[in-house]
Amino acid sequence: MQNFNSLIISHYSKKNLLNYLINRINEEGLSIDSLTLDDLKSFDEFHIGGLQATLDLINQLNIKPNMSVLDIGCGIGGSARQIAFNYNAKVTGIDLTEEFIKTAIKLTELVGLNIRFQKGSALDIPYDNNIFDIVTLIHVGMNIYNKRLLFSEVARVIKKTGKFAIYDIMRIKKGILKYPVPWASNHKTSFVDSPEIYFKLAKEVGFITYKKRIRKNFALEYFKKLKNEQNLQRKRLGLKLLIGADSKIKAENIENAIRENLIAPIEIIFKKK
Ligand SMILES: C[S@@+](CC[C@H](N)C(=O)[O-])C[C@H]1O[C@@H](n2cnc3c(N)ncnc32)[C@H](O)[C@@H]1O
Repeated sequence: MQNFNSLIISHYSKKNLLNYLINRINEEGLSIDSLTLDDLKSFDEFHIGGLQATLDLINQLNIKPNMSVLDIGCGIGGSARQIAFNYNAKVTGIDLTEEFIKTAIKLTELVGLNIRFQKGSALDIPYDNNIFDIVTLIHVGMNIYNKRLLFSEVARVIKKTGKFAIYDIMRIKKGILKYPVPWASNHKTSFVDSPEIYFKLAKEVGFITYKKRIRKNFALEYFKKLKNEQNLQRKRLGLKLLIGADSKIKAENIENAIRENLIAPIEIIFKKK
């Protein structure tokens, strides 16, 4: 497990990420002292569909003010900030990658929100039993080799009335996936599973399926929009800040695999009862 973790952390870690992002934000002519969520949206949602995908997922969860929400694998905190901002919920984000947690804390402070971020693993969640109303997992499952442990950890920390909302890239049919992709440079840390595996493991720990949605067309539209923006060279910010120099080939590899129906981004929302 430790071995996978260190490979995953080194895949995502960027030295001095926070300073790098702040410099890019400054170059864009935005003021760090009056930063808004809108200023961050082109790069702080590290998943297909960006902010729209986050809103599409969280708007189905009936989140109420002061509910406790845990975002597992929160990255630099984009989705956690949206949940806190839109619903006034008490949000916690955990992530394996320390550099992301440090960045999440600072960006959240800069936009004036209050969220608890902590380094931690989905496979050993550092909290007590039965404390979260909602748990979200957005584009993280592809890095999780032991999904049975993931589901049992989520079932442990979630309340009896809780919902577990997943938006992951899942396997649709057999075939060779080309690397690199945004979550892995090669097959060693890529664990893309079928929705059937998610359903089976969820059932084993007492979850029932509430909703499921395949987001293939939404994803293809998103890639089309990204390409248009790149062609017009409109955006100097954007996810390439997190993904790095090979962002184009990574995006092409997943877009092609989605087109060929090898994989698809899928939302599944589970309920405890
Ligand atoms: C593709 S990024 C998605 C980040 C964020 N959910 C978002 O959508 O912006 C995947 C994230 O999962 C984190 N991650 C991978 N395996 C993890 C694990 N076992 N526990 C916690 N975080 C993990 C990585 O560090 C990375 O930040």
